[in-house]
Amino acid sequence: MERIYFDHAATTPLDKEAFEKAAPYYTEFFGNADSPHSFGRKAQAAVDQARDKIAELLGAKPSEIYFTSGGTESDNWALTGCAEAKRKEGKNKVLISAIEHHAVLETAQKLAQNGFEIGYIPVNEQGRVEISALLEMMDEHVAVVAVMAANNETGVVQPCKEIAKIAHSWGALYFMDAVQLAPYARINVKEIEADAVAISAHKCYGPKGVGALYIKEKVKVGKLIVGGEQERGMRGGTTAVPQVVAFACAYEKCVQEAEETAKKMATYKKLFLQELAELEFASVNGDVETSPTGVVNLKLSGVENAAFLYSMDLQGVAISAGSACASASVKPSHVLLAMGLSEAEVKNSVRFSFGKGNTEEEIVRGAKIVKETARKIKNA
Ligand SMILES: Cc1ncc(COP(=O)(O)O)c(C=O)c1O
Repeated sequence: MERIYFDHAATTPLDKEAFEKAAPYYTEFFGNADSPHSFGRKAQAAVDQARDKIAELLGAKPSEIYFTSGGTESDNWALTGCAEAKRKEGKNKVLISAIEHHAVLETAQKLAQNGFEIGYIPVNEQGRVEISALLEMMDEHVAVVAVMAANNETGVVQPCKEIAKIAHSWGALYFMDAVQLAPYARINVKEIEADAVAISAHKCYGPKGVGALYIKEKVKVGKLIVGGEQERGMRGGTTAVPQVVAFACAYEKCVQEAEETAKKMATYKKLFLQELAELEFASVNGDVETSPTGVVNLKLSGVENAAFLYSMDLQGVAISAGSACASASVKPSHVLLAMGLSEAEVKNSVRFSFGKGNTEEEIVRGAKIVKETARKIKNA
């Protein structure tokens, strides 16, 4: 059985060139990037080069890029850092979209325990943030607005530039979790006018355990990890040199190929939905057409998603229920609930996320297995 991987929103395979570039930094140039000797200098030069590259790709200065352990850490640091930076100006409100990743949602809950008032910006049934609601929620007490660039469960893209403008007009900061958009689009922090942007390597065909946070120079956030002078004293801990090297290589390829990848994703999504057109009980959750990502969130009415996932996996097709856990006991997706789906509809929803390595043959074969499996479960 030739297995098919349709779960790129969960993680992507490591790019071979990125892997090869990183390999010597595990074995040969293994020095601690903080050591003053030649081994350390070699490692530090590679870290500097990777930072310069990521900064250039994002339209930022190298001094505005911090390496972290990934999207979760970047989200935690960005939201807390931005909120606390503005608390000094007497601002005590944090507005986040109702569909943010748990890394943002739970950071907001922590901020609530520390005296911030949290507001949740609603989305429409297509999964897009309601700008009119945001405008009503804004006032001079808002410290930071956090709205992700593309949602991890639906792929729906958000009007980030417009949101940044609204936040700034009230003296608030704008934080964008770009983890899911980064593999598919050229992100320019200056164009968007974002104050903080999070990206993660393993969603961009880079390694797990490394990510980056852009923080605009004039935004003075607090230290994340103390006890080391790495990352300009803001995030201590010996730098993961090979991961950083692979991250820069993989992310550069994503950006260079972004247009081509987005086109490929559009073709795959269209083909997949065409193949599924005869499945009368299937419908798409969210606006799939305007998104450059490879995500299709599908509602299969009357088909319990846990049973569907399990059966698909047995047939060699890896997909997801939207959240990382496919267990029936897991809380229903807050993203789909925010879009107006009922709990029953959420339990009938599954996520397919295509990637650069998929082929048209896989899309067609995968769709055939979806049709057979869904019908079998529905009629059981
Ligand atoms: C939108 C979004 N933000 C943050 C994260 C967390 O990233 P990481 O796995 O690198 O911690 C994810 C991962 O699923 C995500 O999809």
